[in-house]
Amino acid sequence: MTRILMTGSLGQIGTELIALLRTKYGKENVIGTDLESPNEELEDLGPYQRLDVTDHTAIATAVELYNVDWLVHNASLLSASGERNPRLAMDVNIRGFEYAIEAAKEYNLRILTPSSMAAFGPSTPRLNTPDVTIMRPNTIYGVSKVYIELLGEYYHSKWGVDFRSLRYPGIISSGIMPEGGTTDYAVDIFYEALKQKTYECFLKPDATLPMMYMPDCLKGTLQLLEADNANLISRVFNVAAFSFSPGEIAAEIQIHIPDFEITYNPDFRQILAESWPQSLSDTNARAQWNWMPDYTLSMMVEDMLEKLAAKLEIEYLSGSE
Ligand SMILES: NC(=O)c1ccc[n+]([C@@H]2O[C@H](COP(=O)([O-])OP(=O)(O)OC[C@H]3O[C@@H](n4cnc5c(N)ncnc54)[C@H](O)[C@@H]3O)[C@@H](O)[C@H]2O)c1
Repeated sequence: MTRILMTGSLGQIGTELIALLRTKYGKENVIGTDLESPNEELEDLGPYQRLDVTDHTAIATAVELYNVDWLVHNASLLSASGERNPRLAMDVNIRGFEYAIEAAKEYNLRILTPSSMAAFGPSTPRLNTPDVTIMRPNTIYGVSKVYIELLGEYYHSKWGVDFRSLRYPGIISSGIMPEGGTTDYAVDIFYEALKQKTYECFLKPDATLPMMYMPDCLKGTLQLLEADNANLISRVFNVAAFSFSPGEIAAEIQIHIPDFEITYNPDFRQILAESWPQSLSDTNARAQWNWMPDYTLSMMVEDMLEKLAAKLEIEYLSGSE
């Protein structure tokens, strides 16, 4: 029987991924952990405990307590939060991963931890960027992701640890609001388009970045988690769906909300966006574990508007002109 422990389970991705894993493997077999203290609402969803990944014994203790065999290590500071507090980003992203991979080695766990397109840097070729290329990121978040990838590969080759990682692009979702990332604008814009019909973007109109809709992120993560180890030649994979700029997503939203207006007031996150690829090549993920996204940009926009309009109780007619 599969038993899974997840760190960072209350995050944008964790919240939705843990719900999917609990449906798949049984509520009692998927243990959520994050910085928040347990409460009735959280415990109703399934087993949950507070776990700070910077505590060097906490992950191993929880692994032993719950007798798990897979570890999904999601706890992280994201790109913008990392630049605001590099020391904390090093503690959470680097030290936290070291404790996680050590626990995976000691207890013979399969470990999946997400990486990011932020592992690339300004000297990386920006179009159709392959899995293996120049990687000199200039953010602490990117540095921590390269370190995670290399350390995971090292544990795999030296001790046979079953380490797996996906480099997500920016993830767009209608659930938890993302916080502390450079691609947060691509979620905020939907709320503001529906509520105010106007949005001030912190990136420039032509800042093209790779993006993905949450259902594809969940599908790909589950596929890699469940992939037969014998089929994996690599341990770290780019996954891609579509790319767009703020100007392009605004135009797509205007198809549905014609009087929506976007203005631009770029801040430090524009510099981060300029250091990352505009599109990713995911041929290895497609070949080794059959990765294939379902959502296009226009499908994602239509679905986001419908879901958020329902959530915000705003009248909105799907496909209205
Ligand atoms: N969301 C994206 O667009 C995106 C893109 C690329 C990669 N990723 C990666 O996916 C993973 C999940 O990201 P997310 O979007 O859910 O992020 P998030 O910021 O929404 O969630 C991260 C979670 O980690 C928790 N956390 C922070 N410090 C912690 C600590 N010391 N101990 C335990 N938990 C701690 C936070 O409370 C939060 O719930 C991360 O590794 C992230 O780098 C996300």
